Amino acid sequence: MHDMILKPSFSTLPVIAIDGPTASGKGTVAHRVADALGFHYLDSGALYRLTALAAARAEVLLTDETAVAEIARCLKTRFVGESVFLSGVDVSDEIRTESAGQNASLVAAMPSVRAALLERQRAFAEHPGLVADGRDMGSVVFPGAALKIFLTASVEARAERRLNQLIQKGNSAILRDVVKELRIRDERDTNRPVAPLMRLVDAQLLDTTEISANEAVEQILYWVKKQSIVN
Ligand code: DC
Repeated sequence: MHDMILKPSFSTLPVIAIDGPTASGKGTVAHRVADALGFHYLDSGALYRLTALAAARAEVLLTDETAVAEIARCLKTRFVGESVFLSGVDVSDEIRTESAGQNASLVAAMPSVRAALLERQRAFAEHPGLVADGRDMGSVVFPGAALKIFLTASVEARAERRLNQLIQKGNSAILRDVVKELRIRDERDTNRPVAPLMRLVDAQLLDTTEISANEAVEQILYWVKKQSIVN
């Protein structure tokens, strides 16, 4: 009887899991796919960025796993379009800096921080479906995802895109430093013992080195159609 009034579990809703390294264009592509399908969107990296920012604001050391996990459990977040709020304050720009990304990568390597954010991520799976982007969407958070994609690009292509974003925002940076920072983050995200970034055997590979974001979106929408994920 009770089953009839229960909210459908995340596994019964179509989830498209897009995982990949930093600056691969996942965010842009995932957002556009979600818009095209009318699905919800989860930017899981933002939760790690918000955790690191909230910890810094509370003057908690990023090496204190117990305290950082407690911060993660109590995060007050709100996502409105592309804007991200922490305790009611718009922190969209603040969490997108290079140092916010590095700090996010540090706290993301802590098992209890990941555990604290797990159910919060699953709660994004609501009718009619979800596009989720991150590192462990297909492996840990939504292992039953209808479609799993490993979206990547060469480190040089990713560094150039990141450099252009930085310049557009009025920051100065040099390509060599950006490449170095990407490599450090790739290394940490790929080699950590818990929920490392990896290409799953059941994930479609989408290399965007030579294609535009729109072409990547078209490819994903083609897979969605081919697998009859939406009617
Ligand atoms: O996707 P992003 O650059 O916003 O992610 C920031 C950091 O958070 C990234 O270096 C690794 C971590 N992360 C993670 O470990 N698992 C996720 N699902 C998403 C991000």
